[in-house]
Amino acid sequence: MEVVIKPVCTLHGDVLVPGDKSMSHRAVMLGALADGETEIENFLFGEDCLSTIHVVQSLGVEVHIGKDRVVVRGGGLNALREPDDVLDAGNSGTTMRLMAGILSGCPFFSVLTGDASLRRRPMQRVIKPLAAMGARITARGGNAYAPMAITGGDLCAITYRSPVASAQVKSAVLLAGLFADGPTTVIEPARSRDHTERLLSYFGARVEVEDKQVSVWGRPELRGRKVVVPGDISSAMFFLVAGAVIPGADLLVRNVGINRTRAGALKVLMEMGADINILNEQQVSGEPVADIRVRSSRLKGTIINGAIIPYLIDELPALAVAAVMAEGVTVVRDAAELRFKETDRITAIVKLLSQMGADITEQEDGFVIRGGHALHGMECDSYGDHRMAMAAAVAGLKARGITKIKSAECVKISFPAFFDTLNSLSVQ
Ligand code: S3P
Repeated sequence: MEVVIKPVCTLHGDVLVPGDKSMSHRAVMLGALADGETEIENFLFGEDCLSTIHVVQSLGVEVHIGKDRVVVRGGGLNALREPDDVLDAGNSGTTMRLMAGILSGCPFFSVLTGDASLRRRPMQRVIKPLAAMGARITARGGNAYAPMAITGGDLCAITYRSPVASAQVKSAVLLAGLFADGPTTVIEPARSRDHTERLLSYFGARVEVEDKQVSVWGRPELRGRKVVVPGDISSAMFFLVAGAVIPGADLLVRNVGINRTRAGALKVLMEMGADINILNEQQVSGEPVADIRVRSSRLKGTIINGAIIPYLIDELPALAVAAVMAEGVTVVRDAAELRFKETDRITAIVKLLSQMGADITEQEDGFVIRGGHALHGMECDSYGDHRMAMAAAVAGLKARGITKIKSAECVKISFPAFFDTLNSLSVQ
């Protein structure tokens, strides 16, 4: 599908973004491991989270997909059954890595695979700690890439010092730890998003967090619960950047999750000078949620590096667009993890924005942008990556001429109604 983006005069209105992707995955997984019914409101009906539903259904868990909610009927930690076919995680790294943790605890054979992009992404980072806990895992390319075959069961608790700040690695180990006796601990080089810890406590597990260290105690009695998923800040960020850079814009993005370990991009955008107000803050299902108002303003360049990187890793494509429209230089460092996402997002951002006329240079672990160069529309590639397609669309709103985005259907991964939402706000 090719989508055409025309420059807009301005943007006005209320925006509702779909439910948080990370939380939607985790709510289904914990619902599958809990006893009783878990009702998930504002679930993200994107392709990635649907992959998680299909995987847990293949493991014998009853999942009912309603119009605006999902109901999971779990039977406790020991209720999963050996699947009779290969499990397909599609494009979803979260499905594959977190389910690898759960399957490591299950005393049966399973095989996890995914699409071409997912089969190129590193899996050793979860295989290594899970094997150390006792899971027998073999994978393609010398235990590096999916498909991976797992024979689980008989795990022992470990303390794992992860070399990467990755919530997927941390969560895989913690979920496997549910099946071991005693505490399983993960220590990260920098803290990653903490949705797994929060939701595990919410479902009744004993969890302790101390700085960059998280422990979960094994064999808890998880109880099914109602989970209300907040709007996804990663999806909201495209509208927050658009609202900040389009002259005269005024947008209210409602019901967005603002968990500190996810909202790094909000902080950076405010530091860049964006006119942002956080309103109606409240706690929902153990997570902070707010409405966010953004009005157009002059942005200035900034440095983005260090411990904040894991808190905004998925938002760097959107922030790069903001940096292109800002005055001065923006430097992104310590973000080599971007190379292991749905596509190599460092190379993809640099290609996209430089072809549109931006001054951007690639670095090993990030990029440097000299802002203030006008963009021109062109035909660009999404690289099959949802966040690249949405970043191209936001850049196109302020470019001269028309921007055409090829393979734009990939927005279905995290935000199926993205283009309709954008159109509803555009004043041409
Ligand atoms: C996610 C963690 C991050 C993020 C991904 C979702 C999660 O990946 O980029 O989109 O839900 O745990 P890493 O754990 O690889 O950093």
